[in-house]
Amino acid sequence: MTTRTARKCKRLLDTKASYTMPNRFVPPNDDVCEVLQQRLYDLIDLASHAKQVHWTVQGREFLALHEFFDKVNAELNDHADIVAERIAALGGQVKGTIQAAAKDTHLPDYPLNIASTTNHIEAFSSSIFQLKILVRASVKTVAELNDNCSADLLSELSRKIDEISWMVGAQMEPKSREAT
Ligand SMILES: [Fe+2]
Repeated sequence: MTTRTARKCKRLLDTKASYTMPNRFVPPNDDVCEVLQQRLYDLIDLASHAKQVHWTVQGREFLALHEFFDKVNAELNDHADIVAERIAALGGQVKGTIQAAAKDTHLPDYPLNIASTTNHIEAFSSSIFQLKILVRASVKTVAELNDNCSADLLSELSRKIDEISWMVGAQMEPKSREAT
């Protein structure tokens, strides 16, 4: 290899090296990461609420609800993944364990002693309503921090939360809905 070729190769290698670890050169946006991290805790928690329904619901609608809440759990996990990877892409430290989420979730404790469809629907609706409010506020906060990509990501999450919330509420018996 000529000296000139060797120099060129070294330049290319150096150039490549500067692109393989982008986060090393980009300071994390701590404020945006913190907002995303708070919603990640809530998503991990809410996904576990969905599994709790999946495992414990009883009654005539068992099969439909058992399957529905398994899908809800999967969708929430998908969104938790998207939020966590956004934190990582911004150079933040993801905290994604159940233990971390249990400590800092903003959702109400999910009752462990319920089984009926009505009680589960009401308990899950209460959890998802709380997350709905928090995600909408987070969209605004992140937009004010000038991170439009994170705001867009949270808007997408907000749409998904609205959709799940509607589908959960629609499974309440009409009598029960009219009473609230
Ligand atoms: Fe299952």
